[in-house]
Order: sequence, then C-alpha cells, then structure tokens
Amino acid sequence: MIRINDNFKNLEKNYLFVDIERKLEEYQKENPKADIIKLGIGDVTLPLCPSVIRAMHSAVDEMADKSTFHGYGPQSGYMFLREAIAKNYYKYNVSINPEEVYVSDGAKTDASCIQEIFSPDGYALVCDPSYPVYVDSNIMFGRKVRYLSANESNNFLPMPDETLNPSLIYLCSPNNPTGAVYSREQLKKWVDYAIRIQAIIIFDAAYEAFIEEKDLPHSIFEIEGSRECSIEICSFSKNAGFTGIRCAYTIIPSDLKIGNIKVGDIWSRRQSAKFNGVSYVTQRAALEVFSSKSQKEIAECLSYYKRNAKLISETLDNIGIWNIGGNNSPYIWLKCPLKMTSWEFFDYLLKNVGIIGTPGSGFGPNGEGFFRISSFGSYENTLEAKKRLELLEF
Ligand code: MLT
Repeated sequence: MIRINDNFKNLEKNYLFVDIERKLEEYQKENPKADIIKLGIGDVTLPLCPSVIRAMHSAVDEMADKSTFHGYGPQSGYMFLREAIAKNYYKYNVSINPEEVYVSDGAKTDASCIQEIFSPDGYALVCDPSYPVYVDSNIMFGRKVRYLSANESNNFLPMPDETLNPSLIYLCSPNNPTGAVYSREQLKKWVDYAIRIQAIIIFDAAYEAFIEEKDLPHSIFEIEGSRECSIEICSFSKNAGFTGIRCAYTIIPSDLKIGNIKVGDIWSRRQSAKFNGVSYVTQRAALEVFSSKSQKEIAECLSYYKRNAKLISETLDNIGIWNIGGNNSPYIWLKCPLKMTSWEFFDYLLKNVGIIGTPGSGFGPNGEGFFRISSFGSYENTLEAKKRLELLEF
C-alpha cells in the first residue's frame, strides 16, 4: 500500500511565503478595500533592463526561424553562458573553468536539490535564522538539521563550533534575512573548518550584488582552500530581476572530490536524469546581463532598491525600532517593538498600517521577535510605507 514519505510529516505545515499569502488573502477577503503595501517576499518590481529585453526579443526571433531554432539545450547550460559566468568571476580574482558552471532555473532549485547527491547520514548545519529552503529540503530528504545560532552577540555571523561535526554547512552571505555579510577572515575559518572535518560548504551568494563595502568577499572562491570544500550558488533573480524569468547557476569546482569521485560529475548525473536545462531565450537574456551596457542599467536598478532600503532603515531609526541590514543587502532586519512576537508584529502592521513584511520566526527559531522588510517594492510604495510607519508610536 502506498504511503506518504514520512519525512514530509516532519515539515512545518506550510512554506513560509505560502503562509504569508494565505494570511493576506484572508485579510483581504474581510477588508476588500484595504490598500496593502507588500514588502514581504523578496520579489523585484522593476522590469528587466532594456538591453536584456532586446536580447530576449532577438532570441525569440531566432526561435521563429527553422535555421536558428533551438530545441533541448545542453542540460548544464549553453557554453556561451557558462563561459560568461566563469569570466565574470575574474572581477573577484577568481578563476573558474566554464565546465565547473552548472546553469539552472533558480537558486532555490539548486539550494534545495544539491544536498540530495550526498548521503543522508550525519547532519546539515544551518545558521539560524536563514532561508527556510535549506532546512525544508534536508528534512524532506531525511537528513537531520542542526542550527547554529546567529544573534546580536555574534552580529548574526556565527562561526564554526568545534564540538559539531556536520556533513553539510549552509552559509548565506549576504544573509537572508539578516543582511549580515561574512568577512574574508571569517570565511577562511569556515573553509579551514570544513576541510578539517571533511564537510562541504554550500555557499548561497544570491545577494552578492548588494554588497557595498569594498573589502567584503562576494564569492567563497575568493578564499584560499575553498575549491576543495565548497559549492557556490548564485542567481540572476535579485541582481538582474529574473525572478519571473528563472535563471541561476551553481559552481562546483573540479577539485571538490569525495574519495576519487568528483562532486560535479555526480551533480551532472543527477541533473541529466531530472532536469532538461533552461530555455535558450532565458540563457540569451542571462548572457546579456554581463554586457557593459546591461551592467550600467542593472546598477541603476540596484541603486533604486538601495534607496528604498535606506528609506526604510531611516524610518525605523526615526520611530525608534532597532534594525540592521539594508546596506549590503536588500533586506532590513528589525526587532519587533513592545516585545511582540514576529507573527504578532506581522498582524499589527497589516491591521494598523496595511504593510506586509516577513516574520523573522519563519527563518528559524532564533528569528522569533524579529521581522524582515524587503526593499524590492516600488519607490512610491516604500515612500507610502514610510509615511504610514511614522504614524506608529511605540
Ligand atoms: C525571500 O523573500 O526570502 C526570497 O525572495 C525567497 C526566494 O528567493 O525564494
């Protein structure tokens, strides 16, 4: 008799952002006239930049012509894009071989699936709070998860705990949700630790484009020794606005081996069975992201969101709410006032000022009492959110 995979019974009932949507729908049903500002999920609001759109149009035209039409593409991505991604690492003085680049339809897909090529024994170490996908995917696979506390006293940047012996280590820098960014020295400690205990670091760099401070690393591969112990996941979603287009990439260095097996070969084997690649049109759009013209246009989009982040952060300062993030990341992480829990503050903001944010507790137990506001809304909405927040008194 068929049964549900028991691992799924160990999950929270709903995925965080589904819970938020459900709450919002209920509220809107009861308050159909409410004017809600959504600063919850980190979804971009600016359109794709003009150069990328032009590249997509021309790729669509190619698909209309028998001589330039593309069917199934290579499952790890077209070489033109893998080369461009590898080349982009030069700016961080990092040398990546295009063969080490695996193009996919999203960082969420890769961050959740990569763990399944490793044995479910042992446990994954996840900084708490962080992106809920790391925990959910490991639970679904039947691997245990242990949290490493990220809190005010360690500036939300936990360091290796020598008493722990995980097989997988998830690091997200800039962190979602706190916006904290590891320094080179801190990442070096993580790399040395991973090598010492023979663990693999899964480094989520989805928000690297938001780093403003000069000396902070954008890639784990800027750190000596990292090629032996790390996988990096990055995305076109947050920098180039591809949340609705879907394109990302994972870097698995050829030096990353378990015994004499190359981890990249196993990932490739997995992908060939489960994934048919990203559309040609999307990959041409992603290629265009690296042109100097697009880079200028994208920089303008990033400045737009950064202006929003600054506005939110200043507003919170003005009304006396402790907050961090927003400078090297698109998220502002705040402490709920009046000792409210994260979900209490969610309800409070929704009911009193019609603003949706993300409860910190959805990112892990340590996020309780905290809250995340996204800077990816429109400037007009962010300005309106500022006015509404300033009406609150704590
Ligand atoms: C977030 O809001 O945490 C992210 O947008 C979710 C995602 O990228 O899947």
